[in-house]
Amino acid sequence: MNQGFRTQRDAPLRGRNTFGVTAHAPLWIEVTTPEALAGVLTWPEVRDEPFLVIGGGSNILFAGDPQGAVISLRARDIRIVEQSDQHAVVRADAGVRWHDLVQWTLRQGLNGLENLVLIPGTAGAAPIQNIGAYGTEAGEFVHAVESMDPATGRVRRFRQAECDFAYRDSRFKREAGRHLIVALELRLSWRPRLRLNYAGIAQALEAAGIDSPSAQDVADAIAGIRRAKLPDPERLGNAGSFFKNPIVPTAVAEALQERFPDLPVFAANRPEQRKLSAAWLIDACGWKGHRTGDAGIADSHALVLVNHGQASGAELLDLARRVADSVQQRFDVMLEPELRVIGAVW
Ligand code: EPU
Repeated sequence: MNQGFRTQRDAPLRGRNTFGVTAHAPLWIEVTTPEALAGVLTWPEVRDEPFLVIGGGSNILFAGDPQGAVISLRARDIRIVEQSDQHAVVRADAGVRWHDLVQWTLRQGLNGLENLVLIPGTAGAAPIQNIGAYGTEAGEFVHAVESMDPATGRVRRFRQAECDFAYRDSRFKREAGRHLIVALELRLSWRPRLRLNYAGIAQALEAAGIDSPSAQDVADAIAGIRRAKLPDPERLGNAGSFFKNPIVPTAVAEALQERFPDLPVFAANRPEQRKLSAAWLIDACGWKGHRTGDAGIADSHALVLVNHGQASGAELLDLARRVADSVQQRFDVMLEPELRVIGAVW
């Protein structure tokens, strides 16, 4: 890759998406530098056709083949670019794996990302859907995001307040196609500010006999909880949560809770709204462990669709639609995919 890029025609995508479904890209382009990316964006088959940028392939379902080029950003540098007694700003290239970034920051003694261990995907993809878990969202720690405008090749820098982060959402998602994220900067603290409220964390620490945990202890506890609940994509193809937790008006949440007192209801970004547990709704419709051919729902978590081997993206999408229809019928709540669906309209 000494020119900063490498290409492959009619490229297989099966090993490049964590669902492990078969698909082909007419052109696959791996890019290692922002300069090479600016060059690639001027190629007619990139400039004049719709193209796709893929991170770790962990939040995407190929229900069909992508029509244009698929670009994978490979730069993987991590460094501290600013620091004081209290904070440091860590800069990661888009191609750094998110989990590697979390571990790197913990090794430096920086606090903040410990609840976000083991999330698949890349640093560049993290701000797009504002990845989150265990009471924390990546957007809270974002100092700045640098993105390239595909039309001009110019790099723009967005401060946290300009990113419009919300639950699994950001301006980068809303303005899809206008930003190729090339670097992420996170502002992390040298002092611990642990968040142990989310169900299961305190119990896991107690079970491990830890009473004054470090950030690394919390990370280890959460890694244990995740491993128990979420299937490992290396063994069983999946893309984590298939659906977002639905956000509904508070009155709707209250009416549902009256009928279904066990339904978990969480705060949403706005006071007049509540977030419902999609996993609970799906579970209540009896889907956990279901299997149609090789497309299934995980035994351990109702929100996770799995590929038992040879399921196609279209089969997984068909199952997802049946799941969403059953939730709609029973609870009158609409589920929407959390991941990106390629080759079909949801
Ligand atoms: N539940 C069920 N059945 C299940 C699983 C869960 O009824 O099979 C209920 C339980 O009552 C549980 C509640 O759902 O208390 C919430 O479950 P969980 O703590 O696993 O969280 P989630 O809302 O299903 C979200 C994220 C996950 C993240 C976890 C932990 C979304 C769409 N998903 O899941 O993120 O790991 O919280 O914070 O917000 C992902 O985005 O890919 C992902 C895995």
